[in-house]
Amino acid sequence: MEYPTVRPRRLRRTAALRALFSETTLDRGDLILPLFVHEQNRSEPVTGMPGVKRHDLDGLAVEVEQAAELGLGGVLLFGIPNSKDAIGSSSRDESGIVQRALARARSEVGDHLVLIADTCLCAYTDHGHCGVLDSEGQVDNDASLEPLALTALSQALAGADMVAPSDMMDGRVAAIRQVLESAGQPNTGILSYAVKHASAFYGPFRSAAGSSPSEGNRRGYQMDPANSDEAVIEAQLDLSEGADALIVKPAMPSLDLIARVRAETLAPVSGYAVSGEYAMIESAAEAGLLDRREAVLESLLAIKRAGAGSIITYHASEAAKWLRDQ
Ligand code: PBG
Repeated sequence: MEYPTVRPRRLRRTAALRALFSETTLDRGDLILPLFVHEQNRSEPVTGMPGVKRHDLDGLAVEVEQAAELGLGGVLLFGIPNSKDAIGSSSRDESGIVQRALARARSEVGDHLVLIADTCLCAYTDHGHCGVLDSEGQVDNDASLEPLALTALSQALAGADMVAPSDMMDGRVAAIRQVLESAGQPNTGILSYAVKHASAFYGPFRSAAGSSPSEGNRRGYQMDPANSDEAVIEAQLDLSEGADALIVKPAMPSLDLIARVRAETLAPVSGYAVSGEYAMIESAAEAGLLDRREAVLESLLAIKRAGAGSIITYHASEAAKWLRDQ
């Protein structure tokens, strides 16, 4: 069968035909909004990420309420503490910034929004690495598991529906699952950053969260962007350790991995359109090089088409408004 019998353009002729035959749709409820909360008592803008703020607790309350009204699926909270030390103690303080933020968010929105807490040490350590260091200054995998698990537990107790470990230590999902079970928190979910490349696209985030490593880089624990089979191994490992759902990031540079992880594990996959992806669209739009709304919606659609059931994106609230009003 070939042209002119077959004419794919017949299904593209009108908006109604295109809508009827589209294979992928974006839903507001698939979007997860990352939010930064700090211990100052005012909100301030994040350099390089127009529209994104480091919120105080009142600003956070407004954001989560708006997110719920817009019908978003969830929010992903990142705490930025005032005090840092070598072992990231403030990450697991029951009255720490992210713990207070979770409690406040819960009191604002009840169960209308899934509250997810990023679980990592990098914003809480004075050296900026995602785990604790050994005597040679290397990230000590096994010594990092307990502080990470205690961080996750404190987030669960503060009201998180899910914890999202982003540190990339081996065995952290099992360690978190075990601590949650033994502390009577069996229903707290784990949305693990299973596939996380050592990526240049996290740049704006690190200045927002003040979490750049003071020495070295994260290549000893985050994945090599060259690897794809390893992404499947990481995903399977996290599932076997008790992860309920998986994150792949950065999203647009990893569409192939979203597709593979989804096809090979069947687990729910969330694509994380990271800070650098946001900044790229914002700066190209600012320079008049592309249509912002079209570019944002197209990129979200591509992440969904690749196989992500949900998308973590700094554009979540705005995209939800566009989807609502279209
Ligand atoms: C913490 C963490 C990072 C991101 C999410 N959790 C930064 C990093 O690994 O350096 C990046 C998110 C983004 O760039 O938007 N480990």
